[in-house]
Amino acid sequence: MQPLRRKTPLFNSEIGAMKGRKNSNLSIFVVVFSIFLFGIFMYNEDVKSIAEFPFSRPKAQKVESFPKDDKRVEEDTVTVIQRDDNTEKDVKEEDTVTIMASKNSRTQLEKSDDDGEDSDEQQEHVELKKIVMTEKEEKIELLDKEEEEEEDEEEVELPPKDCDLFNGEWVLDNVSHPLYKEDECEFLTSQVTCLKNGRRDSLYQNWKWQPRDCSLPKFKPRLLFKKIRGKRLMFVGDSLNRNQWESMVCMVQSVVPSDKKTWYKSGSLAILKIEEPEHITTIEFYWAPFLVESNSDDPNMHSILNRIIMPESIEKHGVNWKNVDYLIFNTYIWWMNTFNMKVLRGSFDEGSTEYDEVPRPIAYERVLRTWSNWVDNNIDPNKTKVYFTSTSPLHIKSEDWNNPDGIKCAKETTPVLNMSTPLDVGTDRRLFVISNNVTKSMKVPVYFLNITTMSEYRKDAHTSVYTIRQGKMLTPEQQADPTTYADCIHWCLPGLPDIWNEFLYTSIISQS
Ligand SMILES: *[C@@H]1O[C@H](CO)[C@@H](O)[C@H](O)[C@H]1NC(C)=O
Ligand SMILES: *[C@@H]1O[C@H](CO)[C@@H](O)[C@H](O)[C@H]1NC(C)=O
Ligand SMILES: *[C@@H]1O[C@H](CO)[C@@H](O)[C@H](O)[C@H]1NC(C)=O
Ligand SMILES: *[C@@H]1O[C@H](CO)[C@@H](O)[C@H](O)[C@H]1NC(C)=O
Ligand SMILES: *[C@@H]1O[C@H](CO)[C@@H](O)[C@H](O)[C@H]1NC(C)=O
Repeated sequence: MQPLRRKTPLFNSEIGAMKGRKNSNLSIFVVVFSIFLFGIFMYNEDVKSIAEFPFSRPKAQKVESFPKDDKRVEEDTVTVIQRDDNTEKDVKEEDTVTIMASKNSRTQLEKSDDDGEDSDEQQEHVELKKIVMTEKEEKIELLDKEEEEEEDEEEVELPPKDCDLFNGEWVLDNVSHPLYKEDECEFLTSQVTCLKNGRRDSLYQNWKWQPRDCSLPKFKPRLLFKKIRGKRLMFVGDSLNRNQWESMVCMVQSVVPSDKKTWYKSGSLAILKIEEPEHITTIEFYWAPFLVESNSDDPNMHSILNRIIMPESIEKHGVNWKNVDYLIFNTYIWWMNTFNMKVLRGSFDEGSTEYDEVPRPIAYERVLRTWSNWVDNNIDPNKTKVYFTSTSPLHIKSEDWNNPDGIKCAKETTPVLNMSTPLDVGTDRRLFVISNNVTKSMKVPVYFLNITTMSEYRKDAHTSVYTIRQGKMLTPEQQADPTTYADCIHWCLPGLPDIWNEFLYTSIISQS
């Protein structure tokens, strides 16, 4: 791995220099410096934003993150994580938080969005075993229900094929939404169970998406399960796609008796497997945050700040995507912590460490070209339906939605409902356009899940401080400090990703 290039906080040196000059003409220096500062604040919002974010994580956090002598965490785990030297290194690297402002005057916080997820999932898994036992008794009841509801499945009304589902508005509907209850889906990890983690408002669960020119079909889990029965459905990408996968698991699992369900991890895959005498159905998530090969591919230890990719190398991942019936790809958030992407010269296998820095959109397009060629050459569109989920937006600057009293997304309890003026929350639209263009130009048809704009209105739907960091629930002290700890990248479940999956549902049940 490359030595870490530390970014020096912008003004530390200047301020330090000032202090050392007590005897020089300090007042003039201060005036000049103030004007300089003022100018930057006026013309470059980035600096202001940078000031809003911490440059390093508190020490206490570091100690808590990987409790070396906390036996409970290790013993409870089903799969053992190797907490080797790298762990220590990763923690240290995380402590230097890199903040990069993007060209359109936005700040991107290097968020360790995936750290420690595994210890979390393992803890969840343990909990799961208990629940499975208690639920076994409900099996018979569930099967009865299945027959009962069989009939009304036929009544679902599909939207016209040419209706643009993504143009529309958010409508409060506490009858139809949420699609499932947080405490009724045992597969949710504590990264996303916001109510359980202390969030008090729950309105974020009650919004439905109303397309302008038609309506989404009523969500019927039994119908969805019928359609995917005996098939493999796989989400491939980063932690936002994992968010969507967790949602899909919950949307399906309620109609399956618990003795037929198993949840496990296998390398880069996390899988919900539904076993029936005649069918095996799987809902899978494959970790590949850049889709192509990168140094962040380790499913357990990928909190790497110095991210390096091989834009033309996809085969290693791709072999795992064959013979899947529904493939849902994404890649976005891991691109957002630097302007430039580091592109390896040579390959990781050969031990190469030198890299070039390539502008983000150029590297992104190279990656998506590699991906699209792989899909065109390896996917039989008669067997496999391919989807691409567009960029999932962040809400880290409450001025973006005219709330000067906000703290990132932390105080938001309703969506942006005034749609009269376009909303700009700093999404890198260049990547959106590239993914849209690439998916349109392929031989294999790809359904572009255009969730970006609709999700930009959902400043209320993030996990914020009701989540985990590096596998541990935020402490009350951390929860009280949203400026540092609010996660405005991922989403609570039930919540917004369920709506993304309603688009997927619509597409799946529309196919013969
Ligand atoms: C995506 O949806 C938004 C509305 O949600 C719409 O304004 C935009 O044109 C759509 N973009 C594409 C590429 O379909
Ligand atoms: C749903 O919303 C209505 C109207 O806002 C309210 O009266 C009702 O109590 C809500 N129901 C639930 C279950 O929250
Ligand atoms: C897909 O099916 C159609 C119609 O059955 C057939 O004409 C076509 O050759 C098939 N395509 C591939 C790639 O197998
Ligand atoms: C919507 O936002 C625009 C711009 O911020 C503002 O001019 C307008 O008055 C708002 N409309 C409503 C109904 O609040
Ligand atoms: C995307 O496609 C549009 C329409 O074909 C084109 O005008 C635009 O230049 C393309 N943008 C990129 C970044 O490829």
